[in-house]
Amino acid sequence: MKTNLTLSTPAQVETECLVVVALDRSTNKDKPEVSIETNDAAVKSAAREVISAGEASGKPFEATLIHHPAGVKAKRLLLLGGGKAKSFSAFDLRRLAGAAVRTLKSRGLRGFAFVAPQNSAQEDSVKAVVEGGFVGNFEADTYKSDRKDQRIDELTVVAAGDQNMLQQAIDTARVIGESQNFTRTLVNEPSNRMTPTMLADQAKRMAQEVGLKCEVYGTDKIIELKMGAFWSVAQGSDEPPALIILRYEPAGAPEKPVLGLVGKGITFDTGGISIKPADGMEKMKYDMAGGAAMLGAMRAIALLKPKIKVTAIVCATENMPSGKAQKPGDVQIAMSGKSIEIINTDAEGRLVLADGLFYARQLGCTHLVDAATLTGAVVVALGYVNAGIFANDDQMYERFRKAEDRAGEKFWRMPLDEEYKEVIRSGIADIVNSGGRWGGAITAAMFLKEFAEDTPWLHLDIAGTAWTEEAKPWIAKGPSGIAVRSLVEFVRDFGS
Ligand code: BES
Ligand code: MN
Ligand code: ZN
Repeated sequence: MKTNLTLSTPAQVETECLVVVALDRSTNKDKPEVSIETNDAAVKSAAREVISAGEASGKPFEATLIHHPAGVKAKRLLLLGGGKAKSFSAFDLRRLAGAAVRTLKSRGLRGFAFVAPQNSAQEDSVKAVVEGGFVGNFEADTYKSDRKDQRIDELTVVAAGDQNMLQQAIDTARVIGESQNFTRTLVNEPSNRMTPTMLADQAKRMAQEVGLKCEVYGTDKIIELKMGAFWSVAQGSDEPPALIILRYEPAGAPEKPVLGLVGKGITFDTGGISIKPADGMEKMKYDMAGGAAMLGAMRAIALLKPKIKVTAIVCATENMPSGKAQKPGDVQIAMSGKSIEIINTDAEGRLVLADGLFYARQLGCTHLVDAATLTGAVVVALGYVNAGIFANDDQMYERFRKAEDRAGEKFWRMPLDEEYKEVIRSGIADIVNSGGRWGGAITAAMFLKEFAEDTPWLHLDIAGTAWTEEAKPWIAKGPSGIAVRSLVEFVRDFGS
């Protein structure tokens, strides 16, 4: 999708469709008081009739299309409801831009112009519109032979202010939006088309394109490194595992900090010998979404060039039952030397991450972030709305909280009290790999904490948010690309 910037007055923009945000400025419930978010008198007057007729009320995602708007050069005017003016933010604007893309492409349009609401900071608005536009343009329909291939090819943002600053905001947003969609493309592939080897090939190809160092290790090296936890999962599959390492080391970056991004890359999770029920098992193709998020974030980082060293590690393997698979009761020695009693082979994500986190520290990472579709329990706790975040360092958490805010993604902090550790004690080894049902997202995080040790660390459990179960006005059903934007904002801030 091409992205353009124009500083013209909205009424002067020649386009298939001019999109303007309509907000409700009323303070009481009974009667909306609609305001069109532009200074342009011609656009306002073209919208007057549908507003006074009550057809446009400013309700969230309400779309009112006007053909041949009088006094406006655009062929159509789309009023897009943004809800109450009082609470309207860049978060809502991002989703509205996605909704504009989705409504207009379904009507066969290929291009349109979106007016950045004049009452909000223009740079932030322009960025939100472009990011949201890319999110809305993605479809997960690659394998449908009757797919319509309706896409928006050109998005113009109408804004006011310093041209260079605004253009820079557009360029940044485009990189972030495209990187999020890169992640979604990887996650969307079924496991027969995204084996660990294929995921590694995609990582290599991307690294080459954007200028990142990439190394991929297989079985021999994983065993040589004594990654006993990672290998215990991989040993059950006929597909070879892949340890994917990407390095971003810009000239002029300080020696420290070095940020480590560690992703869970289970390309299919059957549960292993502790096999999952058949119902819904097909969804476990997205169990590499954490790893894919790290790849997407690295792509954006390589292109945006913040002054900080970043290393990404993706532990990719299938989790399969077989004659070679590990069994409940087995004891494994992780790379760190800790012994782990496997009581549930379906708690495999924390095993591959245990070695991934430890290895990242060995490679010199001073700060760690991991992302994983780690637990069903986080879905029970937070549903599909918020992703879970855990931290052993308040300062690092605070920086991430600000980053997720700029990115328009939702994370909710969960606790890591020492008392939770009781349930992962083992009678025979240092630790068990499952703390059982209660507080399952937390005890999984407690397990990871054992391998992050005293390194400042954030853990993102994206099991409930990496896959959108139902299409929304702003996003298709399927992989969401959660965490990419927040990670990128976090790294950009860390490197400044
Ligand atoms: N990949 C799953 C977690 C998951 C569940 C992701 C639902 C996406 C949607 C993970 O490997 C898993 O199986 N976790 C178990 C852990 C349990 C055995 C301690 C779970 O959550 O049930
Ligand atoms: Mn599992
Ligand atoms: Zn899993």
